[in-house]
Amino acid sequence: MDKKNIELKNVHYFYNNMGKGSNKEEALKGVDLKIEQGEFIAIIGRNGSGKSTLAKLFNALLKPTEGNVHIANINTRDNNMVWEIRSSVGMVFQNPENQIVATTVEEDVAFGPENLGIPPGEIRERVDAALSAVKLSEYVNQQIGFLSGGQKQRVAIAGILAMKPKCIVMDEATSMLDPEGRREVMEIVKELNKDHNITIIHISHHMEEACLFDRVIVVDRGAVIMDGKPSEIFSQVDLIKGIGLDVPQVTELFYELNKNGYNLPLDMGSTEEAAHKLIEEIINKCGRLDGNNN
Ligand SMILES: Nc1ncnc2c1ncn2[C@@H]1O[C@H](COP(=O)(O)OP(=O)(O)OP(=O)(O)O)[C@@H](O)[C@H]1O
Ligand SMILES: [Mg+2]
Repeated sequence: MDKKNIELKNVHYFYNNMGKGSNKEEALKGVDLKIEQGEFIAIIGRNGSGKSTLAKLFNALLKPTEGNVHIANINTRDNNMVWEIRSSVGMVFQNPENQIVATTVEEDVAFGPENLGIPPGEIRERVDAALSAVKLSEYVNQQIGFLSGGQKQRVAIAGILAMKPKCIVMDEATSMLDPEGRREVMEIVKELNKDHNITIIHISHHMEEACLFDRVIVVDRGAVIMDGKPSEIFSQVDLIKGIGLDVPQVTELFYELNKNGYNLPLDMGSTEEAAHKLIEEIINKCGRLDGNNN
């Protein structure tokens, strides 16, 4: 079976209102990317680097100026397939308030499948399944206005799930949430990925959050400049800092300590693992000091 989910070949994007004669650059400059079904990916990059433009190309909200985007082997230029593509790749945006289309949770989640012309009985089933997946079943008749930010984003995710997507793209969908809302949403998308094999692509400015993904794609000035496991990406501290991004706090701490004579690894998986390494290194150092004193 072809596991390919999303494929970009030499994709350029130029916003029309940038003006050909202006000195503005292309938003994307020849991006090649392959994403397989079931991947769990974070995209990072400084402001204006092209992340949102990339996200919109993933579900035909934008079409490339040059090059091609294929979603499950369908070219996004094919206007007859736009609904197919949009129900296969759903988008969650930053502001939960802007994504609500109805008054109650149930109406909101049913909106997508209703537009697809799905029969009422099946809509009911899809809404129930989607709300159960985001752990909001008991809120089915709730007015959305009374929900927290994290719960609203989970309703938005349920609305996408009701379309039976293969992929969910989240464009800074946790950036307006408090830590609890952020944790709720991350837990849900992790489950959707592991239990339902839905591809998750999460754009984030939060480096600790990016570390939770299997693959991190770094975008800068309209190009993909790094692509790998979080440990491979964030251990390149100078490069990451050089493009105006932060590294996770533990990496930062070890990087600074290394400048002062420590020898700590910069590719730590978890904070716990890092804590053990730090203790080990301190004991080591003390041993060396003792040795020197004798
Ligand atoms: N509608 C638009 N019209 C003209 N230029 C745009 C438009 N949207 C984005 N751009 C420009 O395209 C480039 C990439 O923008 P994009 O929004 O994709 O970046 P981003 O990485 O998502 O940034 P941010 O972190 O601020 O969300 C920027 O130079 C931006 O100014
Ligand atoms: Mg953006």
